[in-house]
Amino acid sequence: MTDFIPTPTVPAPDIVRCAYMEIVVTDLAASRAFYVDLLGLHVTEEDENAIYLRSLEEFIHHNLVLRKGPVAAVAAFAYRVKSPAEVDAAEAYYRELGCRVERRKEGFTKGIGDAVRVEDPLGFPYEFFYEVEHVERLTQRYDLYSAGELVRLDHFNQVTPDVPRGRKYLEDLGFRVSEDIKDSDGVTYAAWMHRKQTVHDTALTGGNGPRMHHVAFATHEKHNIIQICDKMGALRISDRIERGPGRHGVSNAFYLYILDPDGHRIEIYTQDYYTGDPDNPTITWDVHDNQRRDWWGNPVVPSWYTEASLVLDLDGNPQPVIERTDASEMAVTVGADGFSYTRKDGSPEGDRTGFKLGAQL
Ligand SMILES: [Fe+2]
Repeated sequence: MTDFIPTPTVPAPDIVRCAYMEIVVTDLAASRAFYVDLLGLHVTEEDENAIYLRSLEEFIHHNLVLRKGPVAAVAAFAYRVKSPAEVDAAEAYYRELGCRVERRKEGFTKGIGDAVRVEDPLGFPYEFFYEVEHVERLTQRYDLYSAGELVRLDHFNQVTPDVPRGRKYLEDLGFRVSEDIKDSDGVTYAAWMHRKQTVHDTALTGGNGPRMHHVAFATHEKHNIIQICDKMGALRISDRIERGPGRHGVSNAFYLYILDPDGHRIEIYTQDYYTGDPDNPTITWDVHDNQRRDWWGNPVVPSWYTEASLVLDLDGNPQPVIERTDASEMAVTVGADGFSYTRKDGSPEGDRTGFKLGAQL
């Protein structure tokens, strides 16, 4: 039985969007080669301990901070809120939840002002800020535009053992669910949740957690993602391509998952859809639908379900990982041959010659 997190009596902070992630990397030069030389993120500022990166269309100081440290992990999932007063609201909200809260008027990173960081009820380090240094938006700097250009930060993805508990907490925080994955017993395996008018700002994936599953950047077009694959092949680092390219069922986005030198997973993502109306319908996928994770039915590699990055507490120590006790998505959908099945009982499940298109029309 899920132990739901109580709804605070004070209002939730008004969140605008996911804004940046701070990750700890063990070799700053190797990470610079990956994020700057390979992926083309733009350096706003750097020193011997940290690199501040942004996507092409961003006007705030950074979307990603690479900080040198001993253990690869995530130090912050940072959201921008609507006004300075909303930082106060975030502080009050998490204090009422009984969470550990730290407020720094000078910010936690360069380029960011007054901010609050919390260890949230799921164990994730969340940050909320409004004040930020504006930098040049590079949208029309076509002299800098690469064939695989990353144009916006799109979303985070978090692994948590109890998705319904996390979903209720994030709904209280003001997120709305665009899509989810369930089985016929009502077990929820994943949920996609948004503040901005896209499919998500963050998603919850069921698994051992708290851990960071991936952080996603958007490209303009599908061909930009193909270029990243071609470039990784040319650099003889195709072993860092974990999954894809492909088309998601959930979100409808075109995707690619790649691994940085520390194993942090990055998604390259494009062309999801508008979700801004108040009655935007939630799409529920059956966990046995073989097209939910990949629209073309390609299998998901097991590492994608099992591997994820540690997250840090506010002292910089890794949070303990709690095991998921509900069935894992991998266990229920990946058979001995490595393939999921799509069709329900009574249909030619697993028989790749038995599917007659004519019978469906
Ligand atoms: Fe994603």
